[in-house]
Amino acid sequence: MEDNKCVNFLQWVLPKLNMRWRGFRKVRQQVCKRIDRRIFELGLSDIESYRNYLTENLKEWEILDHFCRITISCFYRDRMVFDYFSAEVLPVLVNSVVEKNDTVIRVWSVGCASGEEPYTIALLWHNLMRQKFPNLRLEIIATDIDPIVIKRAKEACYKHSSLRNLPVEWLTHAFDQQRDIYSLKQSIKEYVLFLNLDIRKETPSGLFHIILCRNLAFTYFDLKLQRSVLEKIYDKLETGGVLISGTHEKIPDDDIAFITWVEHMPIFQKV
Ligand SMILES: C[S@@+](CC[C@H](N)C(=O)[O-])C[C@H]1O[C@@H](n2cnc3c(N)ncnc32)[C@H](O)[C@@H]1O
Repeated sequence: MEDNKCVNFLQWVLPKLNMRWRGFRKVRQQVCKRIDRRIFELGLSDIESYRNYLTENLKEWEILDHFCRITISCFYRDRMVFDYFSAEVLPVLVNSVVEKNDTVIRVWSVGCASGEEPYTIALLWHNLMRQKFPNLRLEIIATDIDPIVIKRAKEACYKHSSLRNLPVEWLTHAFDQQRDIYSLKQSIKEYVLFLNLDIRKETPSGLFHIILCRNLAFTYFDLKLQRSVLEKIYDKLETGGVLISGTHEKIPDDDIAFITWVEHMPIFQKV
């Protein structure tokens, strides 16, 4: 599909799916390739006939919604955020959990893709905190709408390109390598429970001390949907808990009571 046709089509269709064009600008070719394949599969001639097809077949909107899922991720994505988080934020949260005589620190990764993000948190804990707090347990719930990425996350086998940001010693201790595939060890996999959930409709049960919602809602969703997701996140956070968003994202600054942890870090505390 020619680029201008792809742009026109996405600008027409995304608002109807409560998504925003701005988020898709850089990844538009990925979405349009999927649409091209669909046009071919349906035996249609071009994007115009696909538009007509959409108007006549309401079920097709669900398929189009699937095409708009971007599943790119990697371990230790935005290193500076994880470094700051583990040095400055996690110790404070852990101490507040200990002070309350709680024994579990609970994390939710929203839109976890193939597990790179929740396993990064598991690795941070395993390597930096576990021995200092032997009486504390880390529990991570990781959710994604896409059952295929959830399956991959549970398998936890990666190419080196997904792992390149990890400290070398973590890579050698936490993974078994066979040719070019790195399989995460059971001792790290055990921290994470994966669930197939759509954040627009449902949330996991319980409250969390840390919620990561990065490179999903605040990039791809329209403002109304962003607000609704932010409200859900707020309700699922313990008071004093933190939301971590993506580095290039701006969370809607309505009157929900979050404060920025520190300037220039996408870390927000529920007060
Ligand atoms: C770009 S990835 C981000 C992965 C990870 N959070 C990161 O920042 O590296 C976005 C993920 O969100 C998932 N996703 C898209 N729409 C979703 C929805 N409505 N509910 C839950 N997950 C969704 C996609 O399947 C994809 O795996």
